[in-house]
Amino acid sequence: MLRDGGMALQRRLVAGMLTIIFLLCVYILCGNLVTQSGSSPPPKPSQGLTKGTGSGSRDSEEPLDRKSNSDQWSQPPPASTFHPELSSETVLHGHTRATHTPTLKTQTSTTAEQPKLAELKVLDVSKSSYDGVGVTRTSTKGPALQPQQSTQATRPTEPPFIGDAYMSEDITPQTDCPDSIRSQVAKTDFGGQFLKNIPVLQWAKHVTPEQHQRLRKYPGAHGWGGIDYKTLVETLSVLNSSANWQMLDDWRDRSDKSKCIRCAVVGNGGILKESKKGKEIDSHHYVFRTNGAIIKGFEQDVGSRTTHYTFSTNTLMNSMRSYAGLGYKGPPQSKETRYVFLPDHDRDYLLMKAAATHTQVERGPERAKDPSKYFGEDVSAEKLKMYHPDFVRYLRNRFLRSSALKTKYKDIYRPSTGAVMLLAALHTCDQVNAYGFMTPDYKSYSDHYYDSSYHPVGFFINHDLHMEMTLWQQLHQAGLIQLYMHT
Ligand SMILES: *[C@@H]1O[C@H](CO)[C@@H](O)[C@H](O)[C@H]1NC(C)=O
Repeated sequence: MLRDGGMALQRRLVAGMLTIIFLLCVYILCGNLVTQSGSSPPPKPSQGLTKGTGSGSRDSEEPLDRKSNSDQWSQPPPASTFHPELSSETVLHGHTRATHTPTLKTQTSTTAEQPKLAELKVLDVSKSSYDGVGVTRTSTKGPALQPQQSTQATRPTEPPFIGDAYMSEDITPQTDCPDSIRSQVAKTDFGGQFLKNIPVLQWAKHVTPEQHQRLRKYPGAHGWGGIDYKTLVETLSVLNSSANWQMLDDWRDRSDKSKCIRCAVVGNGGILKESKKGKEIDSHHYVFRTNGAIIKGFEQDVGSRTTHYTFSTNTLMNSMRSYAGLGYKGPPQSKETRYVFLPDHDRDYLLMKAAATHTQVERGPERAKDPSKYFGEDVSAEKLKMYHPDFVRYLRNRFLRSSALKTKYKDIYRPSTGAVMLLAALHTCDQVNAYGFMTPDYKSYSDHYYDSSYHPVGFFINHDLHMEMTLWQQLHQAGLIQLYMHT
């Protein structure tokens, strides 16, 4: 009896244990599923989708989930327009205008109302990851670095990958233009989110172990994730002159007694076709272009000068592949042209270094390529610049915080190359005129000004062109940029 009773007890114990183990398994499995839907790596872009894309305010490339533009504003697209690899929670393009506006408003109001909390955060930050920066500050020329306000304090639920704390630099304005963007911005809705002292460009001084420790947390264009420290040192150290940290490095030579720096920022949108804006564009002090910017044969509409050409290595290679047939042979080349890298991967750092040192690219997808093929024989370190990952992350977090960041595509989402270019001009020029960027009537125009027949604008999961379009409208209405429109 005792023995049987003992057995029964044992059985009950075993059964109880099994139940607990079972429940634990269920719990762990559920947990995993949740984590995966939040953070699993994105699917590899499929080659087949790369072709025939790219536009004004957008990239030619990184081509995920192209879809037609017919359903953008209203209902989610039919399931058949999704790339097979996309699951239903990424109904990214189904979002309506209504979902954008609140996002932006929240952003403005939360950032505007938190100076006190932000100050506290600065102290906090300076004690930890920024210590090394203070040391650099006294020992080098150029802008000094210091921690910058964070808004994390008021967003307790913000996931760590957002990283809304940035380096700050003492940048003396190059002009005393009375109505410059930086002097006007505080009076607008953008005053709360705009950081005047964010480093737009990165260069030799920024590579320290402390900065690597801080920035390696953010992948892609938003940090140094996946790039080893040695590569960063070897590549960024070639950018060590004032031409590398100043966007408008030759202003003194071209100011011509003007008090204000006027920039034309030219996207590739179809709205420029037959626009006859070429002369006006060329009359600016600086002319920014990006990606598949075809000039030859289109001078009347888009001008002929390029002072700043913005690209990532990936977008450049895709543009050269996709638009060769339409006449795109590579980045514009002229004495005044600067090349501004938007680094997405280590291949950008490697191509930049090869260009600066007149050597072949040492490894990666461009291995053994001769950079003069892209940037001309006269390319030198002084003609090269590279966006700071803090700047791109700041643009994403404060200007283009897309709902894509709430999906598993959060790691591949970034502002489009054209958007980074336009917002960089907003942070460096006194006046900005934007041409060829997406406007609400975008369906009336082909994707590019150089398309030989009508081709609708393409939408991809890695950019949020509707949000960008809304932002251009808001910046225009705030008087911070002049956006070229047909109305
Ligand atoms: C950059 O130039 C400064 C001043 O000429 C020099 O002290 C420093 O070592 C250089 N940095 C790199 C990484 O080459």
